[in-house]
Amino acid sequence: MITDTKEAFDSTAAVEIVKQIEKKPNSVLGLATGHTPKGMYEVLVQMYQEKKIDFSQVIVLNLDEYFGADSDHPGTCKGYLTERLYQHVNLKKENIYYLNSQPASGEEECKRYDQLINQLGGIDFLILGIGKNGHLGFNEPGTSLESQTHIIDLTDRSRTDNAWSFGGKENVPTQGITMGIKTIMNAKKLMMMANGENKADIVEKAFNGPVTSDVPASVLQIHNNAVVILDKEAASKLHNDLY
Ligand code: GLP
Repeated sequence: MITDTKEAFDSTAAVEIVKQIEKKPNSVLGLATGHTPKGMYEVLVQMYQEKKIDFSQVIVLNLDEYFGADSDHPGTCKGYLTERLYQHVNLKKENIYYLNSQPASGEEECKRYDQLINQLGGIDFLILGIGKNGHLGFNEPGTSLESQTHIIDLTDRSRTDNAWSFGGKENVPTQGITMGIKTIMNAKKLMMMANGENKADIVEKAFNGPVTSDVPASVLQIHNNAVVILDKEAASKLHNDLY
């Protein structure tokens, strides 16, 4: 879906979530962070206040996290989602799951998250952004398409792009913990969002180029239930035959 305005971008994405929750009130949602979905979360909060959406049975998981970050740091994915969504809506505390940024064992934490996702019956609807290098979650270029939840070194590009969350690149943790590409592909439905001219090149590569681990987002081409929401700037370099 290609939208004309920022308002349409945000509300189109929010409406997809509303439709999912209407269809299955106890949906398991996987949630992304970043600049891109900020407006969508605002619309969701507003729709909740207008009683157009009910989160009382919804289960949420975060897609990724900064590994090693203080878990109370507002720049973490947990901090972001709490501030922008969780504290404003009627999600039950026990239905909010996180990746722990400072687990006793990273390896055990990854296993725990994969088991948790299985126990919850899988992810019904997973929201994704795209990094300028094509990353999904923190699956940086080169990540195996067979990967499950894992810890990964963040690229310089990703640390620079996320400097805003930690008040400077030097404060951005050097590693991430993220659902793997296989974990992502196992979600029953995916929604990827990208906006702005600075995403046009990578969107073109991801959707006009081959499916390759060099561009993790290219795997969306082979998911059987994926929606991609773009604004016209992000879509500007796509070849016409796609839409
Ligand atoms: C971070 C997150 C990703 C997100 C990406 C894009 O790296 N870990 O999940 O998709 O940023 O961010 P932005 O929306 O700010 O471009």
